[in-house]
Amino acid sequence: MTINWTDVGAAIEVAPQSARRVETVMGAIAVFRTMADEYYAVFDKCPHKGGPLSEGIVHGRAIACPLHNWSISLESGEALGADAGKGCTPTVPLRVENGRILLGLNF
Ligand code: FES
Repeated sequence: MTINWTDVGAAIEVAPQSARRVETVMGAIAVFRTMADEYYAVFDKCPHKGGPLSEGIVHGRAIACPLHNWSISLESGEALGADAGKGCTPTVPLRVENGRILLGLNF
């Protein structure tokens, strides 16, 4: 499958340990930046009851959902800890190039 890389903004616009919600033709995607300056993208929908992960708290390479505090891996999209195995949010390919965030959106 060919990946269509789409520029969704400047990397610097996402503050460390925060997220930005990006509306795409595939749905809302949350782009995260960790304290270590790593970037990840997952669909902005918690696998539990659809909470907005972009409004959660980034800790390490995971996000705590703002609704019921499930911890979701930013690397795999899978629920962690006590909720491991209960659900998964699809991840989205992401790369940072020349200071821009590119998402791999397939059409
Ligand atoms: S909706 Fe995310 S933990 Fe419940």
